[in-house]
Amino acid sequence: MDRPKNADGLKNADGPNAVLFERRDFAPGLASFFVRPDVPVPFVPGQFTRLGLPTDDHGSQFVQHAYSFASAPNSDAYEFLVRLVPGGALTPRLFDLEVGQRLWVEPRVHGKFTLDAAPDSDELVLVGTGTGVAPFRSMLVHGSVHDRFRRVVLVHGARYVHDLAYREEFAQMAEVDADFEYLATVTVEPDDAGVELDGLHRGRVLRLLEPDRYRSVTGRDLVPERCQVFLCGNPAMIADATLLLEERGFRKHRTRHPGHIHSERFW
Ligand SMILES: Cc1cc2nc3c(=O)[nH]c(=O)nc-3n(C[C@H](O)[C@H](O)[C@H](O)COP(=O)(O)OP(=O)(O)OC[C@H]3O[C@@H](n4cnc5c(N)ncnc54)[C@H](O)[C@@H]3O)c2cc1C
Ligand SMILES: NC(=O)c1ccc[n+]([C@@H]2O[C@H](COP(=O)([O-])OP(=O)(O)OC[C@H]3O[C@@H](n4cnc5c(N)ncnc54)[C@H](OP(=O)(O)O)[C@@H]3O)[C@@H](O)[C@H]2O)c1
Repeated sequence: MDRPKNADGLKNADGPNAVLFERRDFAPGLASFFVRPDVPVPFVPGQFTRLGLPTDDHGSQFVQHAYSFASAPNSDAYEFLVRLVPGGALTPRLFDLEVGQRLWVEPRVHGKFTLDAAPDSDELVLVGTGTGVAPFRSMLVHGSVHDRFRRVVLVHGARYVHDLAYREEFAQMAEVDADFEYLATVTVEPDDAGVELDGLHRGRVLRLLEPDRYRSVTGRDLVPERCQVFLCGNPAMIADATLLLEERGFRKHRTRHPGHIHSERFW
């Protein structure tokens, strides 16, 4: 039999090569998947790999998509934070997978959305929407982020409080690390929903990047002379944030022309 193919006609290796061994649900349609590959591959926080599943009962058709590592490289399995896209080709299948079932993980890693791309600087500003927080979670739990950046600010935007994955973990990190700030902001959560809104901001992440707002919240200026900015998730957010930052002297980072803005679009 021919090897399974993905939607683009590419061939995966030899079928499933990993097991789903745990799943953590944050909210309806938002979960992290703990995947143990038969042969783990080293990665750098900020990189991604591909997950794949068959799309028919015979396993002859196959779909694969990119997912950023959300876990530290030194953990015994990979963790991926995934949003269910209703009607999507892969995520409904992934959410139907039971613990113990097997799936395909590409035995290669990809991507340049890594901290080593940024020059040493005083402040690292990580901005993510929705599941775009995944690579930042990997960078932060890796534990070496202050080696090159004195202060780190994580700005996470989501519609609802329950969509703020890892919220307690990040808040706890901020409690023990005076040089780490966690700014979480929600756009849709109603005031009277009965959830704890203390310490949360309102509105899109862009509001927190406005000069006055950033200064009033952190006590410092968001300026290219001292800040490197990483943007991840919703492509509209990345476009809007890039524009806003470019107006203030930030430049997109290019390998040959080092700048201050690094980005990873999820779609
Ligand atoms: C480098 C890279 C890293 C990625 N990392 C992650 C990750 O860590 N977690 C994750 O959930 N997704 C991630 N994605 C997106 C992922 O690859 C899939 O596109 C997504 O899971 C949808 O797959 P699907 O087959 O269910 O939907 P498809 O049938 O492919 O439908 C795609 C549509 O779903 C929407 N969409 C895609 N991704 C998302 C998302 N994350 N949140 C909301 N809407 C989305 C877009 O409108 C897109 O056009 C990443 C993409 C890239 C390129
Ligand atoms: N219909 C629904 O109620 C519903 C609920 C959840 C998810 N979904 C679907 O599921 C998918 C994933 O949703 P998600 O919440 O995980 O991710 P998402 O669509 O990326 O939204 C996450 C956060 O990003 C914000 N955002 C969107 N565009 C932005 C921009 N240009 N600049 C700054 N911030 C921006 C959103 O604010 P805004 O709220 O202001 O857009 C939201 O707070 C989406 O495709 C969505 O269609 C639908």
